[in-house]
Amino acid sequence: MALRFATAFAPASIGNVAVGFDVLGQSFPVLGDRVRAELSSLPGVRIAAISGLAGDLPHEPEQNTAGRAVQSLLAATGIASGIALAIEKGIPLGSGLGGSAASAVAAVVAANELLGRPCSRAELLAHAVAGETVASGSRHADNVAPALFGGLVVTVGIDPAQVQRIPVPPAVRCVVVHPKMFLSTREARRILRPEVRLEDAIRQLANLAGLIAGCHANDLGLIRASLEDVMIEPQRAGLIPGFAEVKAAALAGGALGCSISGAGPSVFAWCEEAMAPAVSDGMTAAFARYALDATAHVAPVGDDGAHILDRG
Ligand code: HSE
Repeated sequence: MALRFATAFAPASIGNVAVGFDVLGQSFPVLGDRVRAELSSLPGVRIAAISGLAGDLPHEPEQNTAGRAVQSLLAATGIASGIALAIEKGIPLGSGLGGSAASAVAAVVAANELLGRPCSRAELLAHAVAGETVASGSRHADNVAPALFGGLVVTVGIDPAQVQRIPVPPAVRCVVVHPKMFLSTREARRILRPEVRLEDAIRQLANLAGLIAGCHANDLGLIRASLEDVMIEPQRAGLIPGFAEVKAAALAGGALGCSISGAGPSVFAWCEEAMAPAVSDGMTAAFARYALDATAHVAPVGDDGAHILDRG
């Protein structure tokens, strides 16, 4: 029987994971967005409601990441149905936790379910990226791909999708600390220098290769040696008050590595479970010294991506 509605959840995500600018990301399902897609008699895509940690998100579908993503899906499939979207934001705006990507991913997963799954999950990637581009101003999938597929994901190509999930050692815990401030992804991208020094590129390539090899080999020592962003983090650190102290606190607490989550201001660290309380407490205390109230979350990297919550 044809559906009238479908609701999907998509997790938060950590873009770059320090060493893979715009190509590596991990899901963080402690937080996430929900989108309900409902058939409508009005043609096209409509944003019927935005609730939760919504801020002032645009209601015009072409300017909203969820709306734009579903427009892309409808255009590609030639399906003429009208769809109304209700977006429930669980990810704070401008937090560096992939909120715009999560809304786009939840929207295409819900709409695809509603329409009888005309697209494979891999085909949904390009539509979700088309949506996320509205917010970030650039076409990259390091938040969209992990939100869609779950886990630690490297994106080699968007359309057609070329993504690979990387197994993270089960001992690894991810600590995410979100200071209560807004940072614009567009601004955090605008300040980046267009050129990279050759020696930095070489170190970053070695670190990306080392992190992926360390994950496959379950080698925490190799992960510790590799989880260091020498290319982007030094340029963005000044946008986050206290970043150097937050990172120092994470490393002093035993973290394997610590860097900016996506474009920031959230900061993440990988560590072993026993170290997680010291890492997390040290990071939040460092933000507090800069008068920033910060919320910490700890979770395994896991492998759960977007999924359907409800349909009928
Ligand atoms: N890779 C992106 C960045 C993530 O760091 O700018 C945010 O869209």
